[in-house]
Amino acid sequence: MIYQKLKPFPSGFLWGASTSAYQVEGGVDEDGKSPSIIDMYEHPEGVADFSVASDHYHRYKEDIALFAEMGLKAYRFSVAWTRILPNGVGDVNEKGVAYYRDVIRECKKNGIEPIITMYHFDLPYCLEKKGGWSNRETIHAFVEYAEVLFQNFGEEVIYWLTINEQNTMILHPGAIGLPKGRKLPTKKELYQQNHHMMLAQAKVMKLFHQMVSGGKIGPALNLTAMYQESSRPEDAIAAHNWEVLRCWNFADVPVFGSYHPLAWEYMKDRGIAPELQPGDIECLKDAKPDFIAMNYYSTATIAASRGDASDVAARAGDQQIMLGEPGVYRPGENPYVGKTQYGWVVDPVGFRYTLRKVYERYHLPILVTENGIGAPDILEADGKIHDAYRIQFIREHLQQMRLAITDGVQILGYCPWAAIDVVSTHQGYRKRYGFIYVDREEFDLKELKRFRKDSFYWYANVILENGQNL
Ligand code: BG6
Repeated sequence: MIYQKLKPFPSGFLWGASTSAYQVEGGVDEDGKSPSIIDMYEHPEGVADFSVASDHYHRYKEDIALFAEMGLKAYRFSVAWTRILPNGVGDVNEKGVAYYRDVIRECKKNGIEPIITMYHFDLPYCLEKKGGWSNRETIHAFVEYAEVLFQNFGEEVIYWLTINEQNTMILHPGAIGLPKGRKLPTKKELYQQNHHMMLAQAKVMKLFHQMVSGGKIGPALNLTAMYQESSRPEDAIAAHNWEVLRCWNFADVPVFGSYHPLAWEYMKDRGIAPELQPGDIECLKDAKPDFIAMNYYSTATIAASRGDASDVAARAGDQQIMLGEPGVYRPGENPYVGKTQYGWVVDPVGFRYTLRKVYERYHLPILVTENGIGAPDILEADGKIHDAYRIQFIREHLQQMRLAITDGVQILGYCPWAAIDVVSTHQGYRKRYGFIYVDREEFDLKELKRFRKDSFYWYANVILENGQNL
């Protein structure tokens, strides 16, 4: 659709940026924090552990002042469960509560709306040792943790995200890492874990609506529309298979309270459907999100399965690189899109397409909670970082987002990844996403000084003009 007139970004649009606790904070064993599963991960060769990260735990005031200078209207960050409840449940660590209370106050003081992710990959290790999400008790632990968060921060924070990228955790369990000595769970185990997370999320959304009046809560999923590689009808079926299994099955459950029918038949056929207990379906139906939070990086192009080992990509998959599955789908190539140096497809038009599909399916407002480009940014001798590629990436995605708004999609805000450099889940500090450069290398921490990248000034101007001149 080509329009004669574009709609403006709405007033009050949440121009923001994101981080997550383990990727930015450091201070992993300070002030009563216990280890999370991430702290126990084996890191790829040449990637530092995450114990210092960007040292935001100690420098959050300086960082939030920079966010304010950039003009951010919102800051999406995650709370480390292990700072709040070091035993996963039970005693509340007041120092952890005080830290996040201060982060929230600092944001508000600077006119920035805090957006909380309750859980971003960093399950308390003590819960993992008891089976993690395979253990139904973890559902109660998450509800207990949520109650502490709502009690302490419910009056000050409007926007809440339950679980970050549940679909990444279930579909690419090794992509984020695995605790030392832990084998990859089977698909049966993973879909059981998924079911427990769905129940936990439903209970928490219900509790939220009872405890926090005027607040809004939703899941944060990694969503992407799929293209079929050719007009072959079999390719269309394969693309639909994978769109359902990767995206809609994870968003249908919180919104509609039921698994997607195609996904359910797939899981039953393969003997990997979760065991349901009496009351589970009612629990899922008993809660509804107020919005959908969406992380968007790439689209994928899909072809029909050949039904043999050639379906499975030879290279390791990650949250954006599809793996393939015999009898379901095979990753294809798309000659019409670009790729980052890490093999992630760059597809701004696909962003508009995905936003349209998500809105059409759920009729809920969308909050974009991640979007961005990773690159090995270079700090020049004069303290400048010329990240023209990031400006181009975000500009093109914003242009498409404005078209999606004109298409009628209701979008609450845009929080790209990342507000400041954070540890990349795969490449550490060799791959950066922030508007603010953190001067450290993989193993040499230097002084962790902050530098404004070119994209910092550019984004500040976009916000100032409410995206009018992209
Ligand atoms: C998202 C995650 O999937 O991708 C973030 O929610 C992550 O935590 C981001 O950092 C980028 O991935 P990577 O591997 O490039 O850091």
